[in-house]
Amino acid sequence: VSTFGSRLFDDAMTGIARGMDPETAHKLAVETLKHLPARQVDLPSSLRTRIAGLDLPSPVGLAAGFDKNAEVAGALLRRGFGFVEVGTVTPLPQPGNGRPRLFRLSPERALINRFGFNNDGADACLARLKSRQGGILGVNIGANKDSTDRIADYAAGVSTFMDVADYLTANISSPNTPGLRSLQDKDALLRLAGAMLEARSRGGANPPVFIKIAPDLDDAALDEVCSAALASGIDGLVISNTTVSRPLPPGAAKASEAGGLSGRPLFALSTAVLARVRLRVGARFPLIGVGGVEDAAGAISKIEAGANAVQLYTAMAFQGFGVAARIALDMDAELARRGVASLGALVSTRSAHWAAMAPSA
Ligand SMILES: Cc1cc2nc3c(=O)[nH]c(=O)nc-3n(C[C@H](O)[C@H](O)[C@H](O)COP(=O)(O)O)c2cc1C
Repeated sequence: VSTFGSRLFDDAMTGIARGMDPETAHKLAVETLKHLPARQVDLPSSLRTRIAGLDLPSPVGLAAGFDKNAEVAGALLRRGFGFVEVGTVTPLPQPGNGRPRLFRLSPERALINRFGFNNDGADACLARLKSRQGGILGVNIGANKDSTDRIADYAAGVSTFMDVADYLTANISSPNTPGLRSLQDKDALLRLAGAMLEARSRGGANPPVFIKIAPDLDDAALDEVCSAALASGIDGLVISNTTVSRPLPPGAAKASEAGGLSGRPLFALSTAVLARVRLRVGARFPLIGVGGVEDAAGAISKIEAGANAVQLYTAMAFQGFGVAARIALDMDAELARRGVASLGALVSTRSAHWAAMAPSA
């Protein structure tokens, strides 16, 4: 299949999928990736990025939640993502919440989801990852809904995946598992980080461990998260997950569905929180910016706000699999236009500007 042919196919698929129930469309997208061959996209060398010891061919990664079961990471890496985060994976398989649990807000270019960590469980995902090929792959780990010791679930995730993952992300910010986000409280966060790093120290590999936080934390909570993150020895933060707030125009359809909102309306809020974290943790602490990135301008704004790398999910649902390669080429062109040799030069250059943005939430 030629690149052109597969691009046509991608576009046709998002077009068809848009008329479908969104969860069915997601399944179709995963099946398509399993079966439709694609040649490796060449990424411009200006985009090479180093974060927490990882060498990324591009700073634009796929966020967790699309490839929950580690089935298609290779296919996504070939299509131009600089790194792919699979999961959230929990120790035991679980079905998640009842359907419908994914809603498309097309005019706002947003999604609301309340999946609740539906996934095949750690054993099944580990088996798939054992045969994986190159590229930078992260595993996003979580706790089972009925777990009696959630921190132990995260430590188990580290032990299970540390030998196959380039990095691990602890998702303690999903709004769809009741009580999960209380792990963002300072004492809990320190205990969680301690348990995960202890688990890592018992193995041979030493992948960076990140923690993914919510965009719904106020400044006092950010103070605590940031001081705990710095004190704990973890390797970085992923900012952010979906929001429980609804920064949407009045009357937006589906706005009252319960769950986490992602996509364009999350951009300002998540970028402001990212910048506020950057100002608190200093210049060197690794940060991945996520939330509403849909083009090169958005990716560059996240980097200027303080991100060393970025991720997206919702934009792929609206633009198709070509979105990562398109953003990469546009970023390269923008760097050339500005006369900047590498993206590193832009990191955190506008943190104060973004931190001062009043999130519309
Ligand atoms: C349908 C859906 C499922 C998601 N599932 C997960 C998940 O399992 N784990 C996780 O850490 N984040 C999950 N997320 C959050 C994304 O990784 C990301 O943080 C968020 O959507 C903001 O980025 P975006 O605006 O580019 O989508 C999910 C998002 C969506 C839209």
